[in-house]
Amino acid sequence: MMNKVAIVGCNSFIGMQLTPFLKFNGYEVTGLSKSKSEYTDQFIDLAKSESINLDCLNEMDYVIVAAAISSPDKCENQFELCYKINVQGTSFLIHEALKRKCKVIFFSSDAVYGDDIGIPFTENTPTNPISNYGKMKNLVEMSFGNEKNFKALRLSYVFSYYDKFTQYYLSCLKNREKAQIFHPLYRNVICLADLLQTVKVLMERWESIQSNIVNVCGDELISRVNLADIINSTFAPQLCE
Ligand SMILES: NC(=O)c1ccc[n+]([C@@H]2O[C@H](COP(=O)([O-])OP(=O)(O)OC[C@H]3O[C@@H](n4cnc5c(N)ncnc54)[C@H](OP(=O)(O)O)[C@@H]3O)[C@@H](O)[C@H]2O)c1
Repeated sequence: MMNKVAIVGCNSFIGMQLTPFLKFNGYEVTGLSKSKSEYTDQFIDLAKSESINLDCLNEMDYVIVAAAISSPDKCENQFELCYKINVQGTSFLIHEALKRKCKVIFFSSDAVYGDDIGIPFTENTPTNPISNYGKMKNLVEMSFGNEKNFKALRLSYVFSYYDKFTQYYLSCLKNREKAQIFHPLYRNVICLADLLQTVKVLMERWESIQSNIVNVCGDELISRVNLADIINSTFAPQLCE
């Protein structure tokens, strides 16, 4: 039988890749989003949780929560709105999905750990979020951390041809413009392809993965300058032809 999956935030950077990936792998995918795209089957605004119609979740096996205000700056500067979306609306959605016996995958962040402590973070490292963004992700994790049908994936920086930094840097290369690269900015990095495979494996082996929290973080800190070097060596020769 085909598994049914709802992706909330199907138009996010990750959702736009996850949707075709899961469809290709035989899942029946329903896309929920605030904006319209070829992947949108139903509109949803997490800022207005009181008026969200979630009847479509009745028949879902899995609900993947990719929607969020993911800009840490916005979470600092527009706290109330972001709290409404990232905590209240998201928690309402997850609660409703669990009530309907769906298995929920929530995209959290390694921002829940706070400052770099000099050794790699593991799922057992105590959380100590510093930013509002990290605190909001942590609040959602804590609300559902004991539910057997809830798993949070703690993502680090998801690297892909389509991520914001790579697209910015490629456009600078293409237009022969000098790129403005913030340094030092070191992040653990995970490739999008590895994240997509992780989601698939998680759905296939849900029962055998005991932990409610799964780190999907690279094991090495990489700076934006390192990333620019990787992009240079991969794409610059073609762009300069
Ligand atoms: N990308 C990363 O490196 C990374 C790292 C750590 C964690 N994460 C987490 O992974 C998830 C996906 O990340 P991403 O980079 O793909 O996100 P993104 O590109 O910033 O997209 C976020 C999505 O959230 C949706 N959204 C915003 N406000 C909403 C609202 N009021 N109601 C419903 N939907 C709303 C937007 O929908 P519309 O487009 O329809 O407006 C948007 O597509 C996020 O939760 C993020 O925090 C990502």
